[in-house]
Amino acid sequence: MARRRPLGPLLLPLLLPLLLPPLARGLGLRAAGGRLPACGPCRPERCPAPASCPAPGIAARDECGCCARCLGAEGASCGGRAGARCGPGLVCASRAAGAAPEGTGLCVCAQRGAVCGSDGRSYPSICALRLRARHAPRPHPGHLHKARDGPCEFAPVVIIPPRSVHNVTGAQVYLSCEVRAVPTPVIMWRKVTQSPEGTRVLEDLPGDHVNIAVQVRGGPSDHEATAWILINPLRKEDEGVYLCHSANAVGEAETQGTVTVIDLSKYNAPRLPAPDDRM
Ligand SMILES: *[C@@H]1O[C@H](CO)[C@@H](O)[C@H](O)[C@H]1NC(C)=O
Repeated sequence: MARRRPLGPLLLPLLLPLLLPPLARGLGLRAAGGRLPACGPCRPERCPAPASCPAPGIAARDECGCCARCLGAEGASCGGRAGARCGPGLVCASRAAGAAPEGTGLCVCAQRGAVCGSDGRSYPSICALRLRARHAPRPHPGHLHKARDGPCEFAPVVIIPPRSVHNVTGAQVYLSCEVRAVPTPVIMWRKVTQSPEGTRVLEDLPGDHVNIAVQVRGGPSDHEATAWILINPLRKEDEGVYLCHSANAVGEAETQGTVTVIDLSKYNAPRLPAPDDRM
């Protein structure tokens, strides 16, 4: 196989999908017609012991059409001195400079993006789904197919609920809540309060509390969102139950944390020793 000098780390990922089809066709022609001059006669007994390929669909022959060889599965190395090739549906993409020997790449799915399978599970790529489908148990061969592009939708699931915190008036406390959902959920903090009549009332936060700040951010992982509520300075009336409410088109989830406040103003004399006063 003719080896190509890398065209530059930036250009190569863009060019490879364009370059590979003619390259592959070239290889096909050589395999079908005349052998590569370097190949010589095929002596199967000289082939290295056949490796068992991770997937049946990627068993192939080497560039001389002689020895059995596995094509690269998704994530396998390709290119390099041996000219390793990728399996069907995959392309050889160059890696970041310095990450691997020059000229080697990684087999990646030609169609990027996660897909939702007919089994209701998300797959990182259509290639991963096809690989799974090939390994499907006997009663369901070919049963698994792509249901839609993008990951499967699901209602919010609480990954890390808020803790329960306690501290003194004037201190700073925060609660956080981590949720996973597709599509991305909306997260809101609410405080459980009581109306003068004694019924339960939910107050959307921060409302007009100058000592309360709310922040929502995507992450830490894909399809996750984390919401924080920061109370500073803590007042006695901030004590209570805080609800982290998350919702998307599929459903909703709620989890809660509590804040307990020790009123320092009740202990005015003598003043509590600060940690540095101890010596
Ligand atoms: C109370 O808050 C302060 C910061 O304002 C913090 O250093 C301290 O660890 C907190 N105490 C407790 C018991 O969480």
